[in-house]
Amino acid sequence: MHPETLPRPAPITIDEYRDRRRALMDRLSVESAVLLPGAALVTRSRDSEFPFRQDSDVHYLTGFPEPEALLLLLPGREDGDSVLFCQDRDPTREAWAGIRLGAEGAVREHGIDQAFENAERDAKLAELLDGRTTLYLPLGDAEALALAEEVRAELAGGARRGVVAPSAFADVSELLHEQRLCKSEAELALMRHAGAISARAHVRAMRTARPGLMEWQLQAELEHEFRWQGGSGPAYASIVGGGINACVLHYIENHAPLEDGALVLIDAGAEFGLYAGDISRTFPVNGRFSEAQRALYEVVLAAQERAVAAVRPGATLAMIHEGVVRDLTGGLIELGLLEGDVQARIDDGSYKLFYLHSTSHWLGLDVHDVGAYRHEGHPRPLLPGMVLTVEPGLYVPADNDLPEAFRGIGIRIEDDVVVTPDGHEVLTAGVPKRVADIESLMNSK
Ligand code: GLY
Ligand code: MN
Ligand code: MN
Repeated sequence: MHPETLPRPAPITIDEYRDRRRALMDRLSVESAVLLPGAALVTRSRDSEFPFRQDSDVHYLTGFPEPEALLLLLPGREDGDSVLFCQDRDPTREAWAGIRLGAEGAVREHGIDQAFENAERDAKLAELLDGRTTLYLPLGDAEALALAEEVRAELAGGARRGVVAPSAFADVSELLHEQRLCKSEAELALMRHAGAISARAHVRAMRTARPGLMEWQLQAELEHEFRWQGGSGPAYASIVGGGINACVLHYIENHAPLEDGALVLIDAGAEFGLYAGDISRTFPVNGRFSEAQRALYEVVLAAQERAVAAVRPGATLAMIHEGVVRDLTGGLIELGLLEGDVQARIDDGSYKLFYLHSTSHWLGLDVHDVGAYRHEGHPRPLLPGMVLTVEPGLYVPADNDLPEAFRGIGIRIEDDVVVTPDGHEVLTAGVPKRVADIESLMNSK
């Protein structure tokens, strides 16, 4: 029996991509231009490549799905302010790599004003940028910088013919990343789906888990569901860590057996429409928490539920993190893993032996999505449409003189949360996190 297929949300419309380009250009002068290269294919081994994934910024502005694209935005240009260079139509290459959209397809399918194939790029690029004194590009991208410098040098060489070369390079990333921070309704629909299918994948892993399976077998369950529901695959390398492996934050080997009596921590999310889901759940391999596992788990869960409840416009990630640190530190003291007073253990940082990462990051086209965390020198207040994770954890080292029952336990609970005008919406509520709900799901298979 095949599992149910969820209805898929609509893709972003051409009009929305056009509005995004317009919104960016509205902030630029007519003497400026944006130059934004798309992603290239990346070699996996010898002559085979990783599946192509478009650069998130180029995708955000165009939805254009092919490698080797270059987007130019030319505010005020009469023949159209959005110009795209794309791969050439070439029957031999297309026989191997598939049909390319070509210049005509880029205009027809993606609403770009004007497009050229890459064979024309060298001849056209300088001509299009003549007279643009400030070039906005991703300054952190060496390839974009080299290309901009090449064009600048070429235009500077024509100064006596009246050609005007750019005199300044500026960073487009900051502007664009601010724009990406608050998600539109259409983006939220895609993220809801990414969250829902990620949650179903975790449910599937919980149902499948039992002692003796390998970590990679739970990974296979998760990734089957991602793909089955139309996701492109995992949004980042799936983490399936049994026992002590849960204490390695970015454990991706997933090659150990799952032991009876241990917990397993899964941090995995689907990518759908290029938007990421990002969920962590921790549960007992055999379906029943031990007393110590449950005690520690309840501390993380209480901190996580309070942190989710705190998400609303005006709150900050710093406030949410401080609340989590206070709750976790209090719990660690109650369980005898720390001693003394909560504030003293926060002040001397001793809680960091057990909790060394932050509680939240932005989520969107990138799993650690773009956008500044501070605004005018302060933690930025949350606004409706922002999407963040809430992911406290506790990781008890195995190799010291801590109470034995807790040694080597790693727990993280992570949900994806949208800020709404009057509070928040959890995108990943489809997978249980309360002890009784997890145990009942795992024991009713
Ligand atoms: N999966 C990466 C993270 O939770 O930040
Ligand atoms: Mn995360
Ligand atoms: Mn995660």
